[in-house]
Amino acid sequence: MAGWKLNIGRRRKEDPARGGKSAPSGVVKPLIRETQRVGAIEKNSLPRFQATASDQVTGRGGDRLAATRAKLRHAFTPSQPVADRRMFAGREEVLQTIIRSIEDQRLHTVLYGERGIGKTSLLHMLSQAGVEARYIVVYSSCGANSTFDETFRAAAADIPLLFHSSYAPTTAEAERGSSLADLLPSGPLTPKKFGDLCAKLVGTRVLIILDEFDRCESGAFRRDIAELIKNLSDRLIRVQLVLAGVAADLTELVEHIPSIRRNIFALRVPKMTDQEVLQIISNGEREANLIFDRAAGAFVVSVAQGSPYIASLLCHHAGRAALDVGRNTVVASDVASAIGSAADEFRGRIAKPAQAQIKRLFDSGQGEAMALAARAALAASGAFAMSDVQAAGEVTAVKAQRLIDQLIADRLLMVVEEGGEKRYEFAEDGLPTFLWISWAQQSLRPEETKAEPERPRQAAS
Ligand SMILES: Nc1ncnc2c1ncn2[C@@H]1O[C@H](COP(=O)(O)OP(=O)(O)OP(=O)(O)O)[C@@H](O)[C@H]1O
Ligand SMILES: [Mg+2]
Repeated sequence: MAGWKLNIGRRRKEDPARGGKSAPSGVVKPLIRETQRVGAIEKNSLPRFQATASDQVTGRGGDRLAATRAKLRHAFTPSQPVADRRMFAGREEVLQTIIRSIEDQRLHTVLYGERGIGKTSLLHMLSQAGVEARYIVVYSSCGANSTFDETFRAAAADIPLLFHSSYAPTTAEAERGSSLADLLPSGPLTPKKFGDLCAKLVGTRVLIILDEFDRCESGAFRRDIAELIKNLSDRLIRVQLVLAGVAADLTELVEHIPSIRRNIFALRVPKMTDQEVLQIISNGEREANLIFDRAAGAFVVSVAQGSPYIASLLCHHAGRAALDVGRNTVVASDVASAIGSAADEFRGRIAKPAQAQIKRLFDSGQGEAMALAARAALAASGAFAMSDVQAAGEVTAVKAQRLIDQLIADRLLMVVEEGGEKRYEFAEDGLPTFLWISWAQQSLRPEETKAEPERPRQAAS
């Protein structure tokens, strides 16, 4: 407060904002402006944005790597799917398979897999390929309350009327830019009504993508989708659906599967290979003018365990760590510090009681055992069998069973019966990733990770 008063006093004598003139006596002081000015002087050191909203570097970062730092944000985007082809790594075969099934077999597609495995990024690439082939592509992200009516009215609004057999491109309606939505009845939209309308489409093909399909809670919506797939398939209608969502298996995602099994192509999005993870790194190097040295690359590959999300997150943090000390070469210790940042991030997503329990288990030397179970869960994308634990760490059946029993007793693991087989699932969604990253943070050293396979180097120009 004293400083504040002092400043006010000084301003009376000599106010630089007024060209050094004193405020005339009897004039009410503009207090608000004054406090703002004082605040601005005192708070010059507060953090600021380094780039403007139009992505231009402001120069306030003040260091020579500010531009690289700005590029790093586009190079690795752990919190966003990839929409730019240049940044999309691997997955050629997966994409090829999906396109073939759409194009050659006219099937509807269901993509499923764990969180962060790259479903939405794949859908972006599929959309772009579809648009290039002049498909009309409609993308929609489902929510808990999505309804058939709302979703498919919106889809119809994206289909121009000029592709309706009764409206030639020169008709007034088509020229006005009307869409199929203008022909929909006012009552609730049913799969039959939508199918009837789409049956009139000529001269184009439509892909309707429903991402996050697992989020919709309504059984009626899911039933309607199954009915629509049947309707579209049986009548050879030029509209195909692509559904995507988080699920360990297909039936978890799509109800009424028996009735439409022949009409869909279902694909579980696989883990990335080491080469694909390395490509994420190479793409980012090229984009941000960074270089990941050999050990850093190998470290990322070994911790990511085929997850593009973890790879992208670690590369982002590791890039920042290197830039913070003025390097544009990322080394293994930057990856180690990135693992620490990631562990902190994941910890915040785990319930407090589970956090405390895990800490206790780590402190009592159970870390490795938990890491094995976590790896098994990550490899199986959910429920895993005892054999998965053995495979994750080459341990004996007895040791694997002891470990599982311990985690069940600690309520971190649950038993689920699947097809008569006993499988195990972590009690919380984010637990396997958190456990694995925590273990990596404590125990993995760069030299313990397997050597990086050869990869083409991107010149960091
Ligand atoms: N082929 C790829 N190349 C480069 N990065 C990728 C690729 N696929 C995914 N990623 C990265 O992985 C992360 C997760 O990707 P995406 O959002 O596509 O996954 P998702 O399966 O849709 O996740 P969610 O289940 O949470 O919706 C993002 O950071 C994205 O940048
Ligand atoms: Mg997604």
